Formats: sequence, C-alpha cells, structure tokens
Amino acid sequence: MRFKKNILCIGAGYVGGPTMAMIAFKCPEYKITVVDINPKRIAEWNSDNLPIYEPGLFEIVSSIRGKNLFFSTDIEKGIKESEIIFVSVNTPVKEFGLGAGMAADLQYWEKTARQILKFSQSHKIIIEKSTLPVKTAQAMERILHSNKKGVDFDILSNPEFLAEGSAMDDLINPDRVLIGSRETESGIKARDELVEIYANWVSGERIITSNIWSSELSKLVANAFLAQRISSINSISALCEKTDANIKEVANAVGMDKRIGNKFLQASVGFGGSCFKKDILNLVYICRHYGLSEVADYWEQVIRINQYQKERFILKMMETMFNTMAGKKICLLGFAFKAETSDTRESPAIFIAQKLLEEKAELRISDPRALGNAKADLAGSKGVIEYISDPVEAAKGCHAICLMTEWELYKELDFKKIYKIMEKPAFIFDGRNILNHSELFDIGFNVFSIGMPLFTHL
Ligand code: NAD
Ligand code: UGA
Repeated sequence: MRFKKNILCIGAGYVGGPTMAMIAFKCPEYKITVVDINPKRIAEWNSDNLPIYEPGLFEIVSSIRGKNLFFSTDIEKGIKESEIIFVSVNTPVKEFGLGAGMAADLQYWEKTARQILKFSQSHKIIIEKSTLPVKTAQAMERILHSNKKGVDFDILSNPEFLAEGSAMDDLINPDRVLIGSRETESGIKARDELVEIYANWVSGERIITSNIWSSELSKLVANAFLAQRISSINSISALCEKTDANIKEVANAVGMDKRIGNKFLQASVGFGGSCFKKDILNLVYICRHYGLSEVADYWEQVIRINQYQKERFILKMMETMFNTMAGKKICLLGFAFKAETSDTRESPAIFIAQKLLEEKAELRISDPRALGNAKADLAGSKGVIEYISDPVEAAKGCHAICLMTEWELYKELDFKKIYKIMEKPAFIFDGRNILNHSELFDIGFNVFSIGMPLFTHL
C-alpha cells in the first residue's frame, strides 16, 4: 500500500510510543515509524511485553503494528524517508555545569537536531513534542538552517498534555491540541498539515494554534499550574492538622466554586512524575535568566512545598512510632508515582523509602505494576528491602503500612486479616487519603492521613 505521508517520531518513550500509536490508529493512510537509540526499548515495542504500561495501549499497538505503525532503531533511514518528524526525546534537568539542577538538559535534543540535519535530503516539518524551554525552536532553526544542502525545514511546537495512567483516553479525547508555528507563509502551511492529521479525530474547536513561543511556554505553564494546585492543597493540609479542619471537606467546599473547579485538589504525600518538578525548575531558571526574580521565587515555592510535604510525612511517622524506626518492618503499599502506571520517576515513595532506610527500618515494598522500577530506583540503597507482589503477604509481620500510591485494589484489601498478621500496635499512614479511616480504627489500627482527623488508640 502507498501511504499518503511518512511520519517519523524520534524517541520511543512514554510520549513517543502512545502518541504515535494513536495517530497511526486514527490515520491509517499515514505510515508512522518510531525510532530510538535504545535497541532494548525498540525490541520491547515490537514484542508482547511493551516497555510501558498504559491501559488500552497494548490493544491499540497490537492491532496496527506492522500495518502502518513500525518501531525501529534505524534513525538514518527513518529521517531520509519521512516528510514529518516528531521529536519526543527526553529533556531532563541538567546535572552539570551552568544551570545544574534547574535548567533543561538539551543534549539529547540537540543531538537529534544534528542527526536530522545530517541525514535530511528534502524539506521536512520538524515538530517539538518534548517539553522544552521557551525559545528552543529558535536554536533548532539555527542548527537546521546551517546546512549547505539547500534543504529547508519548518519547525512547529506541538506539546503533549497526556497524563500517565490515562494516556490513551487523553489522546483520544484531548482537552486541546496546541500547535505553535512561525507566522510566515511556510510556517502556516506546515501548521495546517499538522492540523489535518489531528482533525481525523479531534474536533476543530479543540485544535488551537498560536505563535511558536506561546506554544512552548504554555506547556511549562500548564504543568506549573497543575502542580501549584497540589502544593496549594497540600500546604493547607498542614494547617488542617493543626486546627482539626478536614482537608477533604475544605477541598470539596472550595472546589465546588465553578471558578476554582474540583480537579487536582487531592491532598497527598506529594506529587511525583517525571515532569512537574523538572518543568517548574526550568520555568524558574528561565525567569531568573530574564531577571524576573520575584516570578522565579513564586514558582519555586511550589516545589518547596512539595518537598516539605514529603518531609512532614516522615516526621509524622517518626513521632508516631516512638521516634525510632530501627529494626521495624514497614510495608510500602504502592511505589508508582500514581495509579495505573508502572512509572516511578520522582515518585514520593522513593524519598520515603530512602528516609526509612536511613533510619534503619526494614522495607517490604508492594506494587501491582512498578516493582521492577522500584528495584532499579533503590538498587544502590543500603538496608533490608524485600519486594513482594501480594500486598497482604507484604504486610505480614510489619509494624506499619504506608500507602504511597492510590491503586484501587488497596481499597478492597481485607484489613481485618491484615491487622491480625501485623505487629501491634499496628499503624497505617495513608499518604493518599483513600482508605476508610474510621473502619480501620474500629479494626484496631492507628490511622494517620494527610490533613484529616487522627484515629488513634494510643
Ligand atoms: P522517555 O525517557 O520515556 O523517552 C525518551 C526516549 O528518547 C528514550 O527512549 C530515549 O532513548 C530516546 N532518545 C534520546 N535521545 C535520542 C536520540 N538522539 N535519538 C533517538 N532516541 C533518543 O521520556 P518521555 O517521558 O517520553 O518524555 C519525552 C518528552 O515528553 C519530555 O520532554 C517530557 O517532558 C515530555 N512529556 C512527557 C510526558 C509524560 O507523561 N511522560 C507528558 C507530556 C510531555
Ligand atoms: C502531568 C500532567 O497532568 C499532564 O497534563 C502532563 O502532560 C504531564 O504531567 C507531563 O508533562 O509529563 P502526570 O505527571 O503523568 O501528568 O500525572 P498527574 O495526573 O498530573 O499526576 C502527577 C502527580 O501529582 C502524581 O504523583 C499524582 O499522584 C499527584 N496528584 C495529582 C496529587 O497529589 N493530587 C492531585 O489532586 C492530583
């Protein structure tokens, strides 16, 4: 079959894989190839054991793989054959030199730009899918237009707003698709080509266009606003604990105001995930670069409160468990940074586990999807750690349970049985406020949550 267009995506990660699967699924007339420098990842995409878990992803990939969706390590061929290239490589926080710990590390991004430059023989539309500092497209343009081959490029920004765990739903039914371009004749033509792709399943009013810098900046700002809501509610959870107010009741009352809205007001042990922290750090860095120190300080506080929330959780555990953890067995229920994903990047569970190990507690870690990543995260940590899939088995003989991830299955556990097989007094620290605390108290547990009343027999 001859395809209408060849599309390439460089970077087969949490964004590249699912987004390209959705485009291929919705646009059978386009051939989509996803390439990566990591051959193991590509082999997994070509197997029944995909490298990431997302509900619904496997079904879609297996229905179109080999038809119009391909995974490959041949980056050169991919670049040569494609008219449109999405770039969704990782953009982590820089760990060295100028801007270390704050700025985005653009080395993967720049290498990709240079590869595109090297192998391109004809005009291409290059689409920034990765989250990037505002003005990155300018650097991309400068690299690509430095070629002497007469090959022309148009750069678009099309940031991705999917959340892990609901990626396929978010992709099929996005709140908006944002496409930023240069406002030149060829920039607008390129933009229209991308609009045409999304129009196969996204309604016109949800596809919005803007200038390229607004598009780049909107992505950072959207993540900053989302994280800010979590830090806002978490900061108030600390005040609830001092005043006997209940954070769930406060969030409900506040969120019922339509102007505020009720989403993202779930108090927790802190937000995790690969992006909130790095994107805000990046925003802060850009503000400082432009001399906007008040603006930078304002956004930096979102991250400080998140750190404070994780530290508060550990302090509460220590205080409650008689100021010593040495030799105590602690069960962590959940290790993923949120439910319905195997991803543990920046998961608050990593911090909590490391602090408990420093206090010489022995850990039993359980998670339905993330045990492999948990092992990798804690590989260098000293201390006793066991990884046990069955949550009841994991809790056996433990002094306390820390609920770290809001997996539905934890709500359904037989806590009467669990209470019987734990050490007494038995503690539960509900880092997600999802359990029925009064019921647990009646069983005999001492229950501690985030910004909610204490249920303690002590
Ligand atoms: P990831 O680490 O899962 O995937 C990135 C992939 O790019 C890796 O497999 C890596 O091997 C590959 N890669 C790096 N350099 C390469 C090169 N030169 N050639 C080919 N492949 C290369 O990262 P991710 O979570 O998919 O995130 C990618 C981007 O999307 C980031 O900028 C992130 O901020 C953004 N984003 C992520 C999410 C999310 O939910 N994870 C959501 C929206 C936006
Ligand atoms: C987030 C954004 O929601 C996406 O729109 C964005 O595309 C993505 O970052 C990105 O750029 O990477 P994600 O990190 O996958 O998506 O997941 P979220 O649902 O946003 O959750 C992030 C963290 O906040 C999780 O640890 C979650 O448990 C926590 N959270 C979320 C709370 O503690 N309370 C809430 O009310 C909501």
